[in-house]
Amino acid sequence: MDLHPNVASLAPLLGTWRGKGRGEYPTITSFEYADEWTFSHSGKPFVSFVQSTRSAEGKPMHTESGYLRGTGDGAIEIVAALPTGQVEIGGGRADEAAGVLTLTTDASVTNTPTAKTVERVTRSYRVEGDVLDIDLAMAAVGQELGHHLASRLTRDTMPT
Ligand code: HEM
Repeated sequence: MDLHPNVASLAPLLGTWRGKGRGEYPTITSFEYADEWTFSHSGKPFVSFVQSTRSAEGKPMHTESGYLRGTGDGAIEIVAALPTGQVEIGGGRADEAAGVLTLTTDASVTNTPTAKTVERVTRSYRVEGDVLDIDLAMAAVGQELGHHLASRLTRDTMPT
């Protein structure tokens, strides 16, 4: 099935990716994790994603799912739900140059009543061939925007 033209530039993201990540923040002890993402589409003007992570011991850690909405001319919107009690809503861009796809988003965050407070999340996804690099920064728990996650993944399943 063809991608909708509004998300055609996201084609390099489609499929399942696995790799390793490292997390940090000024208020916590740094940690490592196994990262898995699946990006898929239905022909509509959005790409769906599901992420799951595990600790080095194989225990489930963070997970999230959401949508990358293409609104035309490389403009992207993100809607993501986190079981830690946050919903992320924002905008960004997808650009392709010299065979490298770069997708960036900048989102404000709404928190459930008991969740730790996250105010802003910025994300970067970079695909070069079968390598996906993901970076995430957040302004949370009273801190300025700061780095939380970096992971490098390789393509595991080619899209159908
Ligand atoms: C959009 C994605 C994410 C957001 C918004 C987020 C947000 C947060 C926040 C607000 C904290 C609390 C910091 C504090 O209490 O000082 C935190 C801590 C933490 N995060 Fe994340 N996180 C995200 C993704 C992840 C992922 C993918 C992992 C691991 C695979 C992860 C692992 C941790 C760990 C281990 C801690 C410290 C312990 C804890 O509070 O549970 N986070 N994160």
